[in-house]
Amino acid sequence: MKRFALAATLLALPGLASAQQKGDPAKGEQIFKTCNICHSVGLDAKVKVGPPLNGVVGRPWGSWPGYTYSKGLEEGKAQGKVWDEATLDKWLSGPRALVPGTKMIFPGLKQPEQRADVIAYLKQFDIKGNKK
Ligand code: HEC
Repeated sequence: MKRFALAATLLALPGLASAQQKGDPAKGEQIFKTCNICHSVGLDAKVKVGPPLNGVVGRPWGSWPGYTYSKGLEEGKAQGKVWDEATLDKWLSGPRALVPGTKMIFPGLKQPEQRADVIAYLKQFDIKGNKK
């Protein structure tokens, strides 16, 4: 019965249900404004407080050349960890919960659809910063 009620709620909110499966890059661009004090993306992306995020979806942890990462991200890199969508979702909901001691001081995006949107936005950029 509970399950049925949940399905009915999701059906009543088609926008929300689809946002959770597939983010909206245009909304993600707005959310990225909270990231871009510390991160850049695109053809002229440079290191800021954090590394550029070109091609980050599918990129190995801690792999931007010349950026000095925390021990936590360096260890993840050594273990072969990759920023796939599920891992990014965890990271963006609270970086410290995933990597204690990270240098990324960010409380996290509490709403799943905000995380999906920003991931969809970032997914558009390849490693060189071209929009796919
Ligand atoms: C206050 C600055 C700040 C903000 C705001 C911030 N970040 Fe970060 N971010 C960092 C720093 C610093 C690192 C490096 C972390 C480390 O080495 O532990 C980082 C690392 C990352 C990484 C890992 C990159 C890699 O090469 O392994 C991702 C992905 C990321 N941030 C995404 C985001 C997104 C998306 C947002 C916005 C929702 C955001 N960050 C907001 C500072 C920030």
